[in-house]
Amino acid sequence: PTNQSWGGRFSEPTDAFVARFTASVDFDQRLAQHDIRGSIAHATMLARVGVLSDAERDAIVAGLGEIAEEIARGEFAWSVPLEDVHMNIEARLTDKIGITGKKLHTGRSRNDQVATDIRLYLRDEIDIVDAELGRLREGLIELANREADTIMPGFTHLQTAQPVTFGHHLLAWQEMVARDQQRLADCRRRVNVMPLGAAALAGTTYPIDRHVTAELLGFERPAENSLDAVSDRDFAIEFTAFASLLLMHLSRMSEELVLWTSAQFDFIDLPDRFCTGSSIMPQKKNPDVPELVRGKSGRVYGHLMSLLTLMKSQPLAYNKDNQEDKEPLFDTLDTVKGCLRAFADMIPAIQAKPDNMREAARRGFSTATDLADYLVRKGVAFRDAHEIVGQSVAYGIEQGKDLSDMRLDELRQFSDTIGDDVFEVLTLEGSVAARNHIGGTAPDQVRAAAQRARDDLARG
Ligand code: ARG
Repeated sequence: PTNQSWGGRFSEPTDAFVARFTASVDFDQRLAQHDIRGSIAHATMLARVGVLSDAERDAIVAGLGEIAEEIARGEFAWSVPLEDVHMNIEARLTDKIGITGKKLHTGRSRNDQVATDIRLYLRDEIDIVDAELGRLREGLIELANREADTIMPGFTHLQTAQPVTFGHHLLAWQEMVARDQQRLADCRRRVNVMPLGAAALAGTTYPIDRHVTAELLGFERPAENSLDAVSDRDFAIEFTAFASLLLMHLSRMSEELVLWTSAQFDFIDLPDRFCTGSSIMPQKKNPDVPELVRGKSGRVYGHLMSLLTLMKSQPLAYNKDNQEDKEPLFDTLDTVKGCLRAFADMIPAIQAKPDNMREAARRGFSTATDLADYLVRKGVAFRDAHEIVGQSVAYGIEQGKDLSDMRLDELRQFSDTIGDDVFEVLTLEGSVAARNHIGGTAPDQVRAAAQRARDDLARG
């Protein structure tokens, strides 16, 4: 048989392969509950403006409510010949309530319906992702506060640069995630606009009230232009761009966690429950969770490219191409939620190894800049100070001695302005404490920054 929803003008049934090829029900059934919410609001609005009677509305709303439960219980029989989630639900409604079910689609098209469903669904998912981002930030802030005095090497080019506090490093991660959360909130504002009422592309001849529907569905406002409303998926691209930046950040954190858990660094321990072993090497404990998150960034970037390419050069208005928006978007959501859950659970469980971190910072001349700054305070020009300290470091490499291990007479070979007060600035504690301004690594600054971050998180 031809499709019962649109078969009127067709003289032969759809080819069986074409029916399967064009169907989306296998993946868009994920939108079912939001599709029903949208339909209930649409029917309610149609009754409000007199297009449906109150009795018709009541029958539709009750029927859709039962269908929502059938779906939630897993009892709904999805049909591929019925193509997509929208026609499956509408057909079931007509089975249940008869001819009134056929009136639901008055003044509506699947084009505005599907665009509305995706926005409703994505809006709910954004709120879940937002809560997980908050949980991750909280974990980072509290760990940073606990580790405000813990000294580790800071790196540039992955070479020891200057000592920093572990808390400061963790708050750098926190800043990245805080910006991701802001981007998500900004994206949500543009998701929260209602396509319904645009119908197929031009609007509809019925006296619909789009403000009523928008309010029933919690949308900020109806979309301004019907052609734009049914055709663009920039909001899905925007979410995926947010997700790509987030995963980029998580991949950087992952990379550091992988390095830090290695025997060569040995800065932290991840509890066994976040790690796995090797089937051949009995000694192994592998940081699979951060490795997998690092890897999953590639999959999300791929979805961003898919969606950008999907939309590229599409003429107005709706094209069937857009059916391809769902799988990349859904997989992006699943991936983001999984990675965030793993990270938000794992971060508070990180166990720092302060002695190892400190020892690594002590090696590698990490206070060389402090010595140069010391000379500047004694009246030496910075470039000359740089040269003097460079010579001291070369001597240290030759002698196998760190700057803080040198005797005063050894240091004074390079500059007689050096006095015995130099040893304060060569200590790791002195070095970090001296960077005592907003944004600096001093323990007091880290505690103050953690408090500001907490306040920011609480403000939401
Ligand atoms: N399954 C379709 C999609 O996801 C629904 C809209 C179909 N509209 C149409 N005119 N064929 O895009």
